[in-house]
Amino acid sequence: MKGYLLFSCFGEERLDKRRREGILRVVREEFERACGIRDLEIETGNCRAPGYDLVFALEEYPRLPNVLQKIGSFRKNTALRLFDVIPTEWGYRGNLHTCRLEDIRRLPADETKEEPSSEEKPEEERGLSSDFTEYREIAKQFEAQEPRFTFERLVLSDEVRSQLDASIAILENREKLFEQWGLKAIMSPSVLLNLYGSSGTGKTMAAEAIAHRLGKKIIRASYADIESKFHGEGPKRLKGIFLAARQQDAVLFIDEADSMLSARLGNVTQGSEQAINSMRSQLLISLENHDGIVIFATNLIENYDKAFLTRLVCVEMKRPDQEAREKIWYNHLYPVGEVKLHIPLEPDVDLVRLAAFDFCGRDIRNAVKQACINAVLAGRDTVCQQDLLNACMQTEKGLQDLEAASRRGGVRIREATAEEKNRILSQAAELTAGK
Ligand SMILES: Nc1ncnc2c1ncn2[C@@H]1O[C@H](COP(=O)(O)OP(=O)(O)OP(=O)(O)O)[C@@H](O)[C@H]1O
Ligand SMILES: [Mg+2]
Repeated sequence: MKGYLLFSCFGEERLDKRRREGILRVVREEFERACGIRDLEIETGNCRAPGYDLVFALEEYPRLPNVLQKIGSFRKNTALRLFDVIPTEWGYRGNLHTCRLEDIRRLPADETKEEPSSEEKPEEERGLSSDFTEYREIAKQFEAQEPRFTFERLVLSDEVRSQLDASIAILENREKLFEQWGLKAIMSPSVLLNLYGSSGTGKTMAAEAIAHRLGKKIIRASYADIESKFHGEGPKRLKGIFLAARQQDAVLFIDEADSMLSARLGNVTQGSEQAINSMRSQLLISLENHDGIVIFATNLIENYDKAFLTRLVCVEMKRPDQEAREKIWYNHLYPVGEVKLHIPLEPDVDLVRLAAFDFCGRDIRNAVKQACINAVLAGRDTVCQQDLLNACMQTEKGLQDLEAASRRGGVRIREATAEEKNRILSQAAELTAGK
């Protein structure tokens, strides 16, 4: 069966190979899904159809009543998925027209794109515009922000630094590599990073520092922002977030990404599982079609879906060793780069001694804050080594209490995720209340 696909609003010449293939793949998949016809032969061409973004003409269309009935769902699903493939700035509005091949010749050769009146539009297309309005509304909720951290304060091992540098080099030279040297013919120009490691090791900080280095704003979204209580809303929110990143040319940072990146579930029995699966599938589609930079952060990398793993550059953010801890202490006590710290420190501060505590970056930050509070509470105007050591001991004690509370669960608390720590803390509180 022969189909004929015409790009009316933006002109074929503007479609690069990847986009053209993306569009054709979507059309084929949706046509097969809706009409059960696999061997659809597609030709592409240029035509002008007022009011429509895409015209899809079928040779056999009038002779296949069953196809005719299903064409509505094909049109709607295809048009929706194409929002991910076609850049928003091209003005694509989801108006996909289907007609007979012979009718193409009768379409007016008019380049001006008039919007058909809503009565003229098929019902699905009217619904579609409202879907797109919904994405735009969702996108508005995700405003890109200036990054809060730079690389100056971030302490990384040489290995992690060179992994991040390599990704940044690709991003900084994208135009040269993918456009001038044509690498986009063999690989996608998008860069998808996945930062994984235990809590407080600098994943969020690194994502912000990357955005800063690239001179871009950042959109932060966590799994909780995307997941929705309302059935079927997750994929829509996901699309809205990717749309926001495209519109604002921002780095997209998706935190707590483990649930999203895990393997899709087989033998789905419940609506909630179905919802997770459709969100994961949508994530794959959105990633496939996104040209920008996406950074995921997660505490867990087990059970990742291979489909994601092959697309992501995974970088492990390890817990700091003694040398790294000394630098983190330094960066949290003294001014570094643009960070304006003026902690009035006594000269007895000994970073080597402080770094002996097996702390992650966040523990160190918390200990510094605690030491400053302790000094102020004691009515002093300076912070000395003893204040810092006391704060370390308080932090250590907090970690040990957590360790004790978690012994039954067998969790290694220093490597636990923030959620695990919270869960253990509330269990411990319940136990104490029950005493
Ligand atoms: N490698 C590091 N270098 C310098 N500071 C760090 C580093 N890691 C953590 N910190 C300090 O700890 C704070 C918290 O780190 P961050 O939020 O980046 O951790 P995270 O890995 O994203 O944790 P979570 O998994 O809980 O989200 C930072 O704002 C910074 O003050
Ligand atoms: Mg984080």
